[in-house]
Amino acid sequence: MKRHFLNSDIAEIVARLGDESQAFSGKTILLTGGRGFLGRYFMEVFGALNRDILEAPVTLVAMDNMITAGQEGAQIPELPNVEFVQHDVVQPFEWNRPLDYVIHAAGIASPYYYRAYPLETLEVAISGTRRMLELAEAHDARFTFFSSSEIYGDPDPKHVPMAESYRGNVSCQGPRACYDESKRVGETLCYIFHNKHGTHTNAIRPFNVFGPGMQETDYRVLPNFASRIKGGIPLHVYGSGNQTRTFCYITDAIIGFFLVILKGVAGEAYNIGNPEPEISMLELVQEIEQLSSQGIQYDIVEYPDSYPADEPNRRSPDIRKARLQLDYAPEVSLNDGLSRFLDWADKTYTGKQ
Ligand SMILES: NC(=O)c1ccc[n+]([C@@H]2O[C@H](COP(=O)([O-])OP(=O)(O)OC[C@H]3O[C@@H](n4cnc5c(N)ncnc54)[C@H](O)[C@@H]3O)[C@@H](O)[C@H]2O)c1
Repeated sequence: MKRHFLNSDIAEIVARLGDESQAFSGKTILLTGGRGFLGRYFMEVFGALNRDILEAPVTLVAMDNMITAGQEGAQIPELPNVEFVQHDVVQPFEWNRPLDYVIHAAGIASPYYYRAYPLETLEVAISGTRRMLELAEAHDARFTFFSSSEIYGDPDPKHVPMAESYRGNVSCQGPRACYDESKRVGETLCYIFHNKHGTHTNAIRPFNVFGPGMQETDYRVLPNFASRIKGGIPLHVYGSGNQTRTFCYITDAIIGFFLVILKGVAGEAYNIGNPEPEISMLELVQEIEQLSSQGIQYDIVEYPDSYPADEPNRRSPDIRKARLQLDYAPEVSLNDGLSRFLDWADKTYTGKQ
């Protein structure tokens, strides 16, 4: 079986969680989107905690309908006290056991796929979130919703880096609206359940997480570049190349997610990402070139039909809230994260995407 993560990264996450992870001892967790990029890390980390750390094992039930899980997701690992159920979160779901946490990470996250599946993208973030909130409410479980930094849309430069209080600049029409608007409604549902029913809800707004395990067919920028490097073909930089992003390495992101799940203040949303550096796509190419033994060729091209244009010009998180309330501090530099990811991709990708 191909490895979709680095053992050293799982060990790093477990070590950085330290004693905080004992809060999961003996608890039961439902994870949706369990076979996606982030979900697979949750499964591996809970498996490792059960094997090596927890006083009493956590029971993790991972759900996925496999719509975008791909070949990586289809290989279900055997992990202690970790179960998998194939199910669409939008459909009714029977649950007859205790429930302590719901982690709702199901979603259609890659712009390439939400262009292909706009209605499914809406449904999983709206109907799926409502179903999972009802389940959490019925069992008095803590509920964590994976929202997105995309809820800020194309930000006013005055509000970059974006704090959680920024209301965003999002279009309700256009190729990205199915994702951005449904994530906004998902957060509104969390707000309603918290205010009306007292459910302990949190929303996480991740900012461009990357790392080993991203599918070659994911079509987000880093797997796209890595596949082209492997195939020895020029990178395609869409639009002007001046659009900026920040990139958060997977270990830093998973630590941030766990801190929200364990310690998030009820009803609150948190940015999770690495604010440094905010770089343009052209600067990202240069950064990759410095890590590579060979020169990197690239072309600046129009957005392909398969990819939603109208993308935000800037994206950078203000993480002071997570820092102050949760003690969140990313530790992996872009250079280090890129080198771990590109090395893994070079060994794993085919270069044919
Ligand atoms: N990775 C990031 O940088 C990032 C950034 C912002 C937001 N997010 C959000 O975090 C969550 C996880 O992201 P990811 O990168 O792992 O995405 P992913 O696309 O790799 O995984 C999502 C998983 O959800 C599953 N899924 C989709 N619809 C479903 C449904 N109706 N029922 C059950 N399963 C369903 C898919 O099959 C897939 O395996 C998503 O909700 C995404 O929108 C991620």
